[in-house]
Amino acid sequence: MTSTLPSAHGQDTDFEAACEEAFCRLIAQRTGIVLQDHQLHNLRDTAHRGCERFGYGDCAHYLHELQQSQGLTAQLEYLIAGITVGESYFFRDSEQIELLRNTLLPEMIAAKRASGDLSLRVWSAGCSEGQEIYTLALLLHELIPDIKKWRIHLRGTDINSEVVSRAIAGRYSEWSFRATPQTVRERWFVPAGNAYEIRPEIRQMVHFSYLNLAADIYPSILSETNALDLILCRNVFIYLDRETVQRCMSQYADCLLDQGVLMLGASDPMYHRHTGLELVQTKYVGYFHKGGVQGLSGDGRVAQANPFAQAIADHQVRRPVSQTQLPASEHSLQPDMAGIITLLKRSDWAAALVQLDKVCQPGSESSDLWQMKAKVLANMGRAELALQACERSLQLDAVNKHSYLMQGMILAELDRGPEAEEAFRRTLYLDRSFLEAHYELAMLRVRARDLPGALKSLANALKIAQAGDPQRELHNAAGMTYQRFAQVLQNEIEMLRDAK
Ligand SMILES: C[S@@+](CC[C@H](N)C(=O)[O-])C[C@H]1O[C@@H](n2cnc3c(N)ncnc32)[C@H](O)[C@@H]1O
Repeated sequence: MTSTLPSAHGQDTDFEAACEEAFCRLIAQRTGIVLQDHQLHNLRDTAHRGCERFGYGDCAHYLHELQQSQGLTAQLEYLIAGITVGESYFFRDSEQIELLRNTLLPEMIAAKRASGDLSLRVWSAGCSEGQEIYTLALLLHELIPDIKKWRIHLRGTDINSEVVSRAIAGRYSEWSFRATPQTVRERWFVPAGNAYEIRPEIRQMVHFSYLNLAADIYPSILSETNALDLILCRNVFIYLDRETVQRCMSQYADCLLDQGVLMLGASDPMYHRHTGLELVQTKYVGYFHKGGVQGLSGDGRVAQANPFAQAIADHQVRRPVSQTQLPASEHSLQPDMAGIITLLKRSDWAAALVQLDKVCQPGSESSDLWQMKAKVLANMGRAELALQACERSLQLDAVNKHSYLMQGMILAELDRGPEAEEAFRRTLYLDRSFLEAHYELAMLRVRARDLPGALKSLANALKIAQAGDPQRELHNAAGMTYQRFAQVLQNEIEMLRDAK
């Protein structure tokens, strides 16, 4: 790690070995990213470009500024983005793609149909320029003839806002198609100069945002990384140290619905002990499955519909939100708020729901408890039930801004854009400086491809985040401070500006 090769810019003078090592140490400490020898020239180039961008005289000055700062700053994230630049292409790794096309996706689709829930949620974590998640969109188009009836949520996130801007633009050079059948390219891409642009109907299926896997909070309703059927995180863990990979894996387990699937890259390191994820090995490909192997057939396939979805559906039939009747002894239950909050922090949605069911009853119910229940149900992928819980919450307190926010988020999830907008407006009517409401309005506008509107709402959110107490946490994303959220917002603004 101490070699000092000349950089691509020919500027190797101020980049002493000691300085280089100090950069590596600082990056590893703050982000969990371990640099390999072959990445050092990228580090040097990025550090030099960073000096120009942030106005530092030399790399030693840049390093000094980083050492004086704490946590993740724009200057540090710029470096990380530069060194983790990674290549991607459509239909990457034919064996994994075939497993998705022939087995995993058809089984997921069949299970959803059987449960009557025509929705699918997929996250490409470390999506680079979007080829992976667009490939998923193309596969789903191929596999679901009545796709218009489905609610398909496909999200790509990356730490590098430049690649995310390119993903949003959806324009690719010939090299991205090296594993793509000619017929697919002709059907779904339009030539644009010496590149190809993905057709709007596919582009509109996918949403992108900034997210640092090593530092940000997930699962989160805010970043739509909750209640997922499938996570693709391929060829990303190669950048991260063992501890960070382990943390990512257990957070992924919390993001997945029961029976959900996680697929890593074929040569990614994997540590899944104590995560609740089971490694399923087929002849050529391994993937992770949440919920034990009992639900899988011998060749690694999901054999039955999501039983959890059925349990919740039963629950809905037995206990309609507005007419719940419980024995008198249970009416006087005092909510164990500390216990419920602990379960929520652990993302133990099933246990939290059991507790909330007990207290969301006449005699002990409150608007806040119903709002928590809505959040739990949303995290379990039960959007319709979550919406009913919001309605009950608002019946109990018609000015609960958090319940309007939750209602808006769930309506957006259900593709009911105008009603979601109305709910966010009500939230802002109650509190103009409600940071998350501005952010959610921005996300709604991104979905509607109203980029100027989205940028305006993001700018409002940024102003509020910068003016607030830096250590204050967001209401709906425990652990996300105003300070960190301001950085995320800055990255998102940059990303959308570049994509315009
Ligand atoms: C080699 S690409 C993989 C792209 C795609 N998943 C694939 O397999 O084709 C790796 C991506 O991971 C992203 N990445 C690396 N570290 C990350 C982190 N801590 N958080 C989010 N993304 C990260 C990089 O910016 C890069 O775009």
